[in-house]
Amino acid sequence: MSTQSSPLKAVRGTRDLLPPETALWNRIEQTAREVFARYGFGEIRTPIFEATELFARGVGEETDIVSKEMYTWEDRARAQSEKAQSLTLRPENTAGVVRAYIEHKLGERGDLQKLFYIGPQFRRERPQRGRYRQFWQIGVEVLGPVSSGSESPVRDAEVLEMLATLLDELGVKNWRLELNSVGSTEDRKRYDAALRAALEPVKARMCEDNQRRAETNPLRVLDSKEPADQEIIAALPKIADYLDEDSRAHFAAVRAALDACGVAYTVNPRLVRGLDYYTRTTFEFTVPSSFDPASGLGTQNALLGGGRYDGLSEMLGGPKAPGIGFAIGEDRLILVLQEQDGSRAVDAPHPEWMWAKKLDAYIAPIGAECNAAALALARELRRTGLSVEVGDGTFRLKKSFDAADKVARNIVILGEDEVRSDILTVKTFATGEQTKVARAELAKALRA
Ligand code: HAM
Repeated sequence: MSTQSSPLKAVRGTRDLLPPETALWNRIEQTAREVFARYGFGEIRTPIFEATELFARGVGEETDIVSKEMYTWEDRARAQSEKAQSLTLRPENTAGVVRAYIEHKLGERGDLQKLFYIGPQFRRERPQRGRYRQFWQIGVEVLGPVSSGSESPVRDAEVLEMLATLLDELGVKNWRLELNSVGSTEDRKRYDAALRAALEPVKARMCEDNQRRAETNPLRVLDSKEPADQEIIAALPKIADYLDEDSRAHFAAVRAALDACGVAYTVNPRLVRGLDYYTRTTFEFTVPSSFDPASGLGTQNALLGGGRYDGLSEMLGGPKAPGIGFAIGEDRLILVLQEQDGSRAVDAPHPEWMWAKKLDAYIAPIGAECNAAALALARELRRTGLSVEVGDGTFRLKKSFDAADKVARNIVILGEDEVRSDILTVKTFATGEQTKVARAELAKALRA
């Protein structure tokens, strides 16, 4: 009887990230951390699951995220005194950050809270290139009491300018910033009424989802990707015509500050974003790529998205705490960087660290009896900060050279003679040069 069973695989829509690609992930995260530090941000880590109600109230019941894409389960009570609770893997991190802001009374500190996070999010979407069920976001949130300046258009422009700087430092080419204002909560009420009126005579011709949204949350009709409904959607009123004077002035000030910084943008009056908490400024950055809107996959496929959420804290039962933030899709950022570098051409736009770095040395023991000495030599070199790999004394010399050439810049031969004399043979692959080096000089020679 065969005892073999089919090997288990990662769940659909989830992925293993393997070296050397993980080095690229780490460099991107490191660059983000460096840039965020320059702008005065501190890191926040919130739980990966939260009460379902947080997302229902924050992101909105009628959004695709909450109505279709969440991983939600009933967490059983473990004792008589406990109640079963509906929990959800976080589909995004803004609601969690604002919950933490409220819970820890960060508003009472009086100053602006500038927070960033890097971590996995979960949405049950149809997996495809650049869209996964577990994906990573690098995000920031800036929020605080009104007295901290959290409502100022300077905050919006600073966050956008920081993004432009980060993308430039990462070597991302051809990014495009699309910008809009979805107005204040009051503007939105008037726009909501206008949308309802405009949808009334036409909604019967729309898909079932949109008919329901027309009743419950007409703004979400604008996110619809239903092809048959696009003509009706295109003819609906535009939010720009419903902004009051304050919202208009805010938007104008954001644009003026961006102009002053030399950050280019395009105003896209249709950009409403798929989450309910947004007010005033909304934005997305796109880059031509295999998951780009231009290739017909829909605007959902941005590299990053964000906006202002002046009422979110109150929606979650907290104090007034206007804020703005964004989240970069890290998986998509990696795809963009890899695509833009293509064949790793000489004029490759990205920094050298896009590509896995070779180790400083590969130590090849000649004969199994030299293995221990090789490990001791590796320890010595590694303690000086060099990156070293150790082969195996049973390898033939040719095999050692081939293995070394793949992973390291130099090979160090360690046979019985070398062990006895403390003079080592070093070959540098780039030049083909072979030299004898005294053990005491070896670290310096390998560093050259
Ligand atoms: P979002 O637009 O839903 O916004 O997501 C932000 C980014 O996450 C997207 O632009 C995309 O790059 C990436 N993303 C979303 N879903 C997936 C997926 N299934 N697979 C791969 N990448 C994905 C938010 O999440 C807001 N919390 C952003 C924000 C922060 N707004 C204010 N502060």
